[in-house]
Amino acid sequence: MNPLAQPDIRIDSYLGEGQERSLAQDAREGLSRPFKELPPKHFYDARGAELFDQICDLPEYYPTRTERAILHDTARELAQLTGAVELVELGSGTAAKTRVLLDAMSELGQLVRYVPVDVTEGMVRDCAQELTSEYPGLQVHGVVGDFERHLSQVPAPRGPRLVVFLGGTIGNFPPADRATFLREISNLLGPGDHLLMGTDLVKDPAVLEAAYDDSQGVTAEFNRNLLHVLNRELDADFDPEDFEHVARFDRHNEWIEMRLRSRRHHTVTVRALELPVHFREGEEMRTEISAKFTRQRVSDDLAGAGLSLVRWLTDPDEQFALTLSTPAG
Ligand code: AVJ
Repeated sequence: MNPLAQPDIRIDSYLGEGQERSLAQDAREGLSRPFKELPPKHFYDARGAELFDQICDLPEYYPTRTERAILHDTARELAQLTGAVELVELGSGTAAKTRVLLDAMSELGQLVRYVPVDVTEGMVRDCAQELTSEYPGLQVHGVVGDFERHLSQVPAPRGPRLVVFLGGTIGNFPPADRATFLREISNLLGPGDHLLMGTDLVKDPAVLEAAYDDSQGVTAEFNRNLLHVLNRELDADFDPEDFEHVARFDRHNEWIEMRLRSRRHHTVTVRALELPVHFREGEEMRTEISAKFTRQRVSDDLAGAGLSLVRWLTDPDEQFALTLSTPAG
């Protein structure tokens, strides 16, 4: 594309070989442990992203629609309160929920720039095109990268900044990594800047487990898609049908765990790693944790990263929360 034709769009890409290396590394480490584990970020190839979209429409999976409803009800207040002229979004995807905020900022005449950070280059490019035509004058500076590795590539602020991290994805980090990551986000903020973060809340385990083990089996398919990713990217020979989807709420840790349970004793080969992987019958491999929060937990985690709570926004049933925070004075 001719950059002169698109003065309001800039996209920097930091991916390439790195992404596949991280899968190889994660697979080598995670599949060699006594308790096998793979990080959830590898779910999201094209098929995984499509399955996740389907999950968001399931009757049992309340987080997406609940978060959208909270955003819808509070966007104007958030835009006013933060006075933000730029929105930095971590894991922007199709920016579906983001438009609610961009609308509010634009109506108040304060919208200058949108900085989407996402691993999927196509999505960053498409949404840059769409948003610059929907919001005349908007600048989009996309960062194609892994938000765990490329946050330092987020450009310097153009004015009061709002960083958004939606969907409850913070819950996918194990607690130690969560603390590190919140600190890195905090480093993107100066005095008077804000973070808006979505977190799923602790509730009846039956409701939680249904959200991660839906009656149509879409989440099971999403979970097993990880095995297709390993087969394709690392020339492995998993038969996804050898694995059963498991989703359980861990009451002690207050998180959902998704696992894949081997239906039989067998050996899989990850050819690109020359790695044989043995599974016992009934052996479970962890593929995701999705932490559920209380107000106290969120506020303590934010405080640990030097942020203080400004607003706690939730739905009437207190299923999901958005928190607005700012660097502590
Ligand atoms: C969007 C990553 C937060 O943990 O609820 C949905 C992913 N996993 N169903 C979540 C997911 C299973 C989702 N996140």
